[in-house]
Amino acid sequence: MQIIIINGPNLNLVGEREPEIYGKMGFDEFMVQLKKQFPEQTISYYQSNIEGEIINQIQDARKTKDAIVLNAGAYTHTSLAIGDAVAAIQIPVVEVHMSNVFAREEIRHHSYISKHAKALVCGMGLQSYEMAIRFLTTNFSAH
Ligand code: DQA
Repeated sequence: MQIIIINGPNLNLVGEREPEIYGKMGFDEFMVQLKKQFPEQTISYYQSNIEGEIINQIQDARKTKDAIVLNAGAYTHTSLAIGDAVAAIQIPVVEVHMSNVFAREEIRHHSYISKHAKALVCGMGLQSYEMAIRFLTTNFSAH
């Protein structure tokens, strides 16, 4: 399967950003581990701090990928446009969050993405991504 992880704003700082919430490992290191864990899948990674670029990437993925693992960061709670992009495409999207957003401030409890996503994983740190990929490969793999 061709799976793309799309990360939104500030997720490029995971590893140094609020380590008590997001842990100490950065994405470069994590991606190496993840690819080893799923040797039969092609997993790519994209991160942007810019809303429109995330939307462009979601739109591109509908033609080039089999599934998306999407952590839109704070745009999750604010971006009707990213929610619309997810609603517009046919390939499965799993929404992920490293932190348990429901245990945090009220504003983080609402997501514009969840109702259009196949599934939601949150609160498992970087393992949230791993769980999302396991779900996608188990349920949407052609072989
Ligand atoms: C996050 C949760 C969001 O509320 C926050 O704005 C982030 C990261 C997470 O992975 O836990 O940037 O999506």
